[in-house]
Amino acid sequence: MHHTRPLVTASISQANISFSSSLTAMVSSPVHFSFSMAQIIFFVFMASTIFHLQQRLMKTQPTSELEMKYQSYSQMTGRLTTSKPKGIWTVNVQGRLGNQMGEYATLYALAKMNGRPAFISAQMHNTLAPIFKITLPVLHNNVASKIPWRNYYLNDWMEEKYRHIPWEYVRLTGYPCSWTFYHHLRDEILREFTLHDHVKEEAQTFLRGLQVNNSRPSTFVGVHVRRGDYVRVMPNIWKGVVADRQYLEQALNWFRARYSSPIFVVTSNGMAWCQENINASRGDVVFAGNGNEGSPAKDFALLTQCNHTIMTIGTFGIWAAYLAGGDTIYLANYTLPNSPFLKVFKPAAAFLPGWVGIAADLSPLLKH
Ligand SMILES: *[C@@H]1O[C@H](CO)[C@@H](O)[C@H](O)[C@H]1NC(C)=O
Ligand SMILES: *[C@@H]1O[C@H](CO)[C@@H](O)[C@H](O)[C@H]1NC(C)=O
Ligand SMILES: *[C@@H]1O[C@H](CO)[C@@H](O)[C@H](O)[C@H]1NC(C)=O
Ligand SMILES: *[C@@H]1O[C@H](CO)[C@@H](O)[C@H](O)[C@H]1NC(C)=O
Repeated sequence: MHHTRPLVTASISQANISFSSSLTAMVSSPVHFSFSMAQIIFFVFMASTIFHLQQRLMKTQPTSELEMKYQSYSQMTGRLTTSKPKGIWTVNVQGRLGNQMGEYATLYALAKMNGRPAFISAQMHNTLAPIFKITLPVLHNNVASKIPWRNYYLNDWMEEKYRHIPWEYVRLTGYPCSWTFYHHLRDEILREFTLHDHVKEEAQTFLRGLQVNNSRPSTFVGVHVRRGDYVRVMPNIWKGVVADRQYLEQALNWFRARYSSPIFVVTSNGMAWCQENINASRGDVVFAGNGNEGSPAKDFALLTQCNHTIMTIGTFGIWAAYLAGGDTIYLANYTLPNSPFLKVFKPAAAFLPGWVGIAADLSPLLKH
């Protein structure tokens, strides 16, 4: 389960050591008394490049140390002499897995559009790299803290002006998680969020063991039921609701009507509620995953390995559906029309046009 993690940790701490020792040398040496920002930035660029190369080299596994030095040297000079894109772009880390995937994909797409190199923080790397084969290089905290960032706030939908952000050292902020930023790069985004083999295999092994009516199902529908904090946050802060049992019944029936003997693989951070409210008497519902928000890889992998998706609310479900790539049912219009939520969230930018919405029952909000 964890065989990529030590590798990642090792490479970060190695980078850590070389950064901090060089920085200490720079600061304490009386000869190199003052360093200009340009020099620091150059250093940052070099250090990050080296870190990136180090990761690449670990993947390609050269046969000898000499070959490794040669590769490192030629790639470095190649990159420096042909380096046109200037600056460093990154993205603020906010929220958990689904939010961070949105932030990553948005950084990836906007940096590319603006011709800037993109780097992620070690924190984001720690969230995403154990699950996905992501490729954006890491900017270490010691280095990031020396850069004169310009914070750039993004709405949760693409705007024309985001194609022309003129600054070199940009930290994107906000909670961007909209296909409108990156859907034109769908293949690249799917490649970035390719599961590590062992994560995928664990999910596949689970799915292969499932049966409906004593036969192996050919259609798997991942069901993500987001509860936890949202159960209170939606009515209290956003004048909204979370998915109820009627929504889930309608969504399951949508698939039962269209596929022969589909199986529903339910993951949730409120599994007890699901077991009480999803009718499993037909034998086609399995309560799966561990609902553990602290280690979401297992639940997320299960959902993406299914053919289709039923989501409720939240970016975790949106990403699971995006990666699964099949038919998708979502809970629509789950806030009152005057909800402040609609100022920061545009349904048309969150749900792909081909996805099918089922309107939420808002009557519980009108009772009091
Ligand atoms: C299982 O088989 C029974 C009897 O053929 C059928 O009525 C039922 O709909 C099947 N269940 C599913 C989920 O396909
Ligand atoms: C659950 O589904 C079964 C079979 O479709 C149905 O007979 C039963 O009434 C349902 N139970 C509830 C509590 O809705
Ligand atoms: C449906 O998902 C299963 C499990 O991942 C996979 O083996 C199968 O090939 C998928 N079916 C289709 C039609 O993609
Ligand atoms: C949600 O509300 C919008 C605006 O009123 C409406 O156009 C849309 O059809 C509704 N969606 C669903 C699935 O009911």
